[in-house]
Amino acid sequence: MGCAIRARRVIETERLVLRRWQADDAAWHHALCNEPRVRATLGAAPTLADSADVIVRQNGYQESHGFCFWALEPRTLGRMAGWCGLKPGTPPIEGETEIGWTIAPDLWGQGLAREAAEAVLAWAWRNTACPSVVAITATGNTRSRALMQRIGMRHDPARDFDHPALSANDPLRRHVLYRIQRP
Ligand SMILES: CC(C)(COP(=O)(O)OP(=O)(O)OC[C@H]1O[C@@H](n2cnc3c(N)ncnc32)[C@H](O)[C@@H]1OP(=O)(O)O)[C@@H](O)C(=O)NCCC(=O)NCCS
Repeated sequence: MGCAIRARRVIETERLVLRRWQADDAAWHHALCNEPRVRATLGAAPTLADSADVIVRQNGYQESHGFCFWALEPRTLGRMAGWCGLKPGTPPIEGETEIGWTIAPDLWGQGLAREAAEAVLAWAWRNTACPSVVAITATGNTRSRALMQRIGMRHDPARDFDHPALSANDPLRRHVLYRIQRP
């Protein structure tokens, strides 16, 4: 393994590596977002060009804030199969530090998202000064909400909101907000 590969790694767990994005992740990102079970919760799927933009944006957060939604690579797979990490909240959650995740559906139900999310939270408490971390998702995204609960986040109904990027008749528009305080 070369130094460049090691330098891209940010968090390592028993089964996963979370690392900076690289240009050839775009095709995997695009395929993952177009998977029907992912589209059902994330909404409109990106084009390949959009996926390339996502990578540029996430690497930009890494440069400006020292964190991003890192590319997630199961050790057994040796390629990107999701993401998990932190990013600065955008309206209406500006000022918050947001945790987020997505895993390829064939890897659901193995505790991999939880393993990643718990490692990301531990990283956040060690490496940032944020007093709390929030997570947001569409109201009906039960798998994501269950994960929020499992890692100790609690729903704050007073902060639920309509996602400004989604139209009034979009079933994903209503969002819930969960929070965990710094231990
Ligand atoms: C949200 C998402 C990441 C959750 O993934 P997940 O695999 O359900 O979550 P976890 O990693 O916590 O796994 C939990 C399951 O693994 C099981 N499991 C198996 N082995 C395990 C282990 N070693 N450790 C922990 N849990 C384990 C648990 O019992 C649980 O099973 P259940 O789903 O039958 O209750 C995934 O559904 C996803 O990517 N969804 C689409 C995109 C999306 O919605 N992203 C979030 C937008 S806000």
